[in-house]
Amino acid sequence: MERASEPQVGGKFALTDHWKFLANAVDAALEANIGELGDGCPERLRAAIGYSLLSPGKRLRPVLCLLTCEALGASHQVALSSACALEMIHCYSLIHDDLPAMDDDDLRRGRKTCHREFDEATAILAGDALQPLAFETILTSSMPDSVKVQSALVLSRAAGSVGMVGGQMDDLLGEKRPEMLLGPKGPEREPGEQLSSIHRRKTGAMIEASVVLGALAAGATTECLNQVAKYGQGIGIAFQITDDLLDVESTVEKTGKATGKDAQRGKLTFPGLYGVEESRRMADWHVSEAINALEELGQEADGLRQLAMYILKRNT
Ligand code: IPE
Ligand code: IPE
Ligand code: MG
Ligand code: MG
Ligand code: MG
Repeated sequence: MERASEPQVGGKFALTDHWKFLANAVDAALEANIGELGDGCPERLRAAIGYSLLSPGKRLRPVLCLLTCEALGASHQVALSSACALEMIHCYSLIHDDLPAMDDDDLRRGRKTCHREFDEATAILAGDALQPLAFETILTSSMPDSVKVQSALVLSRAAGSVGMVGGQMDDLLGEKRPEMLLGPKGPEREPGEQLSSIHRRKTGAMIEASVVLGALAAGATTECLNQVAKYGQGIGIAFQITDDLLDVESTVEKTGKATGKDAQRGKLTFPGLYGVEESRRMADWHVSEAINALEELGQEADGLRQLAMYILKRNT
């Protein structure tokens, strides 16, 4: 993916160009991380990690982390390790999401999925290795110890069984064993409530963690952390609603991944439950709520506001 250098547009930045600048900084740092894996890392494992981690994704989560850090008055560089850690966890989640036992996809970011390029065992292990690497990256960074500990805790909760992995479990149960999803223990939940809960965990949790890690690196106050976390929650759910919409409305050429598969697999999705128009309206509403959560932040937060609007218009 070709990326531009830092532009200056009348002292303010255009989001897409600044996004590319920040994504470039993340890619350079990720490349360095892979270079530092050490002689003990089997070459095939290093190749699989590098293949997936450096493949041309949007780098939404690391960019969000860096933009939040900037919105709170700090240099993006102080959050670079956290940004890399977020992309590592995200990348592992995609490698595993694509496995035959999960969504069984052959194409990711316009390339063969990791298990198609290598093999299933290598893909599982590449995903496994990316998880501790993410925490190592935070814990060996130059951030103050208290920030490292808090960041590692936020990331582990967002990625784990009450966050992303829990959401992925329920996403699969919704598709294959909906009776387990509705659960024998509690009262049955409305399908819409169930669906929102899945999306908030499988995708929203990591997006919220991205802004929180950026705020922690910037040394934000608790009040500020809460405001950006609310913003993260809003754009997090909107991002998965638009992912569901792209699966219905977009093409493999534009998204770099197979489309039309959610309905085929019987996934619980927003367009499946509410239709395209209503889903779009819901994504709009969540994005407005996200932008409202930033009302006490000044012009420095314009990048975050623009990113929220981008989510509604994105075609990849
Ligand atoms: C895809 O995420 C998986 C979801 C959580 C919807 P992205 O759309 O951010 O994927 P990349 O990183 O750009 O490939
Ligand atoms: C994936 O959601 C969410 C995570 C990887 C945690 P999807 O299964 O909808 O993502 P895509 O469409 O394959 O990118
Ligand atoms: Mg999935
Ligand atoms: Mg998938
Ligand atoms: Mg999807």
